[in-house]
This record gives sequence, structure tokens and C-alpha cells, in this order.
Amino acid sequence: MKLPVNMDGFGRCISYLRISLTDHCNLRCLYCMPDRDQVFGPDEEILTAQEIQTVVSAAAQVGFNKIRLTGGEPTLRRDLVDIVRQIKAVDGIDEITMTTNGLLLRRFAEDLAAAGLGRVNIHVDTFNAAHAKNLMRLDNLEQVWAGIRAAEKAGLSPIKLNVVVALDHNDQDVAELARLTLEHPWHVRFIELMPIGADGSVGFSQSQFVPTRQTQQRIENELGALRPVENAGPSDESRNYKLPDSQGVVGFISPVSQPYCGTCNRMRLTADGKFHLCLLNDDEVDVKAAMRSGGGVDDVAQILLEAVRLKPTGHRLSEGIHTENRGMFQIGG
Ligand code: 5AD
Ligand code: SF4
Repeated sequence: MKLPVNMDGFGRCISYLRISLTDHCNLRCLYCMPDRDQVFGPDEEILTAQEIQTVVSAAAQVGFNKIRLTGGEPTLRRDLVDIVRQIKAVDGIDEITMTTNGLLLRRFAEDLAAAGLGRVNIHVDTFNAAHAKNLMRLDNLEQVWAGIRAAEKAGLSPIKLNVVVALDHNDQDVAELARLTLEHPWHVRFIELMPIGADGSVGFSQSQFVPTRQTQQRIENELGALRPVENAGPSDESRNYKLPDSQGVVGFISPVSQPYCGTCNRMRLTADGKFHLCLLNDDEVDVKAAMRSGGGVDDVAQILLEAVRLKPTGHRLSEGIHTENRGMFQIGG
């Protein structure tokens, strides 16, 4: 039997590419980015739309079929709609999605949907104004709501809301957020804080960590038992549930307390052109240099297969090993 070319050393078929389009963001969530003094690389280090297109074509050639655009904040990229349109035109890519904080969706949702974006995950940790200001340094929750409404109107559904749970910042809001699924067909997903990046954010993630078990308990205490529902697919990292009579889904993403590395099907591309092999460690394979010295789709396909081959079996958080050289805003989650 012929093995798929995109199978890694542990029998996982790697078919999902997450592309960080920029490391800039219009928010400064406590666990992700320092408030100020964040130094960004020069613009010429960031992959161009043309280079992204080359990587996507190479990925499709070796069996990738799903692309997610991430950041930082992908809507800050001026050529975002064009990038979506180009990716949509690549044979073999079945699904294009995006993770965003929603602040600019009101402006772009229609155009993105028309260009071929399938749906969005919107990152919002709380709808309590004081807590949002503290945790996400976000003043205008109304703008996030407007973004969610615009995404819904444009048909970018199902809408998924990503909530990163942090002790004493938004852990008291989780039931309120889960309650949204009673009236909306949304997926509200609670994510465990991961220790990623330089000292400050890693320290924050470790001291404010809340295990899924506790988040789930809190939701069930206030809203009743959660009934497990089937996952969308084997590599869906979220364990999904429904509240009684709900329209939407409550999900838990527990990379720390219940790792799902065994079914990981992802590869990541950083905005500055490296394949990042596992979110939770520092291993990378450069692809930009090859493209800037004349390499084309076939060369990139070879580099991508090498990256797939080198993908580690799982994270090593329990040994105290985590990503240090990059922040989440540079990898895209
Ligand atoms: N742990 C877990 N999730 C995080 N995100 C950013 N930093 C962290 C962290 N330390 C999430 C954001 C966004 C996605 C890109 O990653 O909420 O949804
Ligand atoms: Fe921006 Fe997302 Fe990081 Fe918050 S978590 S600062 S929204 S990239």
C-alpha cells in the first residue's frame, strides 16, 4: 500500500496548515504580549502574499487540505482578502478558516466570505467589561459584538468563540459564556492556558492556570449537566458537550491536562517563514530562505515534507520544556 506522503514518523497524517500572517496585534492579552516595548521584526522578514501562495500550493501538492489564517491579528494585514482569494483558488484546499479577535470583522466579514473564507474563530475571554480590560486590555467589547454579528451575517459559521481561562481574571465568567450557547448556535470553547513565550507570559500562564476539570465543574454547577457530543473529526482538539436545550456547543481544549498530541494533524507557518513543528516547543524548519534564493513550489514541498518528518511525537510540558523563543502572537495558536 502506498503511504500518504504527508504522514509523519508517528503515523499521523499532517494535513492542516496554520499560517500566521503577521505578529502584530491590536490587543495585548496578558498571557500573550507585553503591554509595550514589544519589538517586531522588520517588515521585509514577513512572508509576502506571493510567498504564502507558494507554500499553500506546495502544501496542497503533498496532501494538505485545510488552511487556517492566524496572527497576531490576521485582519491587520492589508492584503488579507487577496490572500484568502488566492488560497481559495488552490486545487485541493477544501477549507479556509481564520482565528481573529473580531475587532475588525465588522469591516471585513463580508469581503472575506465573498473571497472564500469558510468560518472564523473569535477570541474573546469574557463579556465583563472590567475583566476584558484587565485580561485582554480591551476597552470596546461592543466592537467585538459587532464583529460577531457581522461574521454571522456574512455566513462565516458556525461561529466559534475561544476563551482562554485565567484564574482571578475570567474564571468567574465561564458559566455566563457557556450560557450563550443556549440562545446562539455558537461553539464556546474554553482553552487551558499554555506556557508559551518569554518569562512574563510563561509565568502568568503557570500561576493563573485553571484545569478544564474546574472550568467544567463551574459551568455544570450553574447550568446543569453537560452532555457529551461527538467531535467533528479525530483531530478536533476540542471535547464537545451540550447544555440541556442549547443551540450551540460547549467545548474544552485541554492541551495541558489532557494532551491530544497523538492525533495532532497540524503544521504551523510563522509570519517570518519558518515551519514551527509543535506549538509547545521551539523546533523550526526555515522555508523562507529557500524561496528567497529562487526555490519554487517543488522545493518548498520537499522542505515541508522534511518538517512533517521532523514533527515531534508530543509536547514535554511535564518535563518543564516549553516554547521559549516565540510568543503565541508569533505562532498563531
Ligand atoms: N494559552 C492558550 N491559548 C492562548 N492563546 C494565546 N495565548 C495563549 C496561551 N498562552 C490563544 C488565543 C487565540 C489563539 C490564537 O491562541 O486566545 O484564540
Ligand atoms: Fe492579540 Fe490574540 Fe495575543 Fe490577544 S491572544 S494579544 S488577541 S494575538
